[in-house]
Amino acid sequence: MLSETHIEIAKNALDKARTIALTYFNNPGILKNEFKDIKTLVDLKMNECLIEELSRTGFPILSEESELQNEIFPECGWVIDPLDGTFNFTRKFPCVGISIAFMENRIPSYGFVKDIFNDITYSCEPNRKANKNGYEMNVSDESKLGNAILATGFPSGSNYETNELLTFISNVQEFKKIRAIGCASLMLCLVAEGIFDVYYEKGIYIWDVAAGLALVQAAGGKYLLKEMSDPFKYEVVASNPLIFRTACQKLTGNLS
Ligand code: IPD
Ligand code: CA
Repeated sequence: MLSETHIEIAKNALDKARTIALTYFNNPGILKNEFKDIKTLVDLKMNECLIEELSRTGFPILSEESELQNEIFPECGWVIDPLDGTFNFTRKFPCVGISIAFMENRIPSYGFVKDIFNDITYSCEPNRKANKNGYEMNVSDESKLGNAILATGFPSGSNYETNELLTFISNVQEFKKIRAIGCASLMLCLVAEGIFDVYYEKGIYIWDVAAGLALVQAAGGKYLLKEMSDPFKYEVVASNPLIFRTACQKLTGNLS
């Protein structure tokens, strides 16, 4: 369980990392640009900042930017993505997040997400409602796929084969609208806020979704976090509780 001091450290870390992002706004420093993936200097600078701040709590930290082969998924500790939506950032498309989760028994229990461009903080802790800049959030009450907005995306390591994409198309055809904004953490915040109804990605990494899933749950929603064969990769559905079972069945074939 986190103390008030630990929570303060996490929230201040979001602000400090955001300041760094703004410093690199016009020049993110592209270090790697291969196939569907991109890495910039600003990812690394924000990572350094978050590691320095969160280390003060004494809990282990799993970060997207760590040397992953040496990392283990913490039973109890931080799971972070310093910059979620790196490609958006390089194009100044204003959907970019900083994602900090705290896991207990490998389950996301606290979530802290910063919307960098809009300076909005989303946060939640166990047994309290999720909030956006201090205002309570609730998931939507839409129960029909035919009226629902599905937020989704194609993770950098996902399968782009034609057959896989055709399956995806048939799985999403029943939804009213589909949105892909390139930032998993913020898509989940929008589900928590009741603006989107369902989130789905296959092959997404735990650091992209952990904080957002805690927020969806604290806003009254449910989620499916299904392990895949690659370490740290998951198939994820998150939604309001009324549409959850139908959405899971449609998107993954699972009745959850
Ligand atoms: C990406 C975003 C995107 C999702 C990708 C992620 P990154 O995060 O969350 O929405 O579809 O899977 O990799 O790489 O910019 O941190
Ligand atoms: Ca990232």
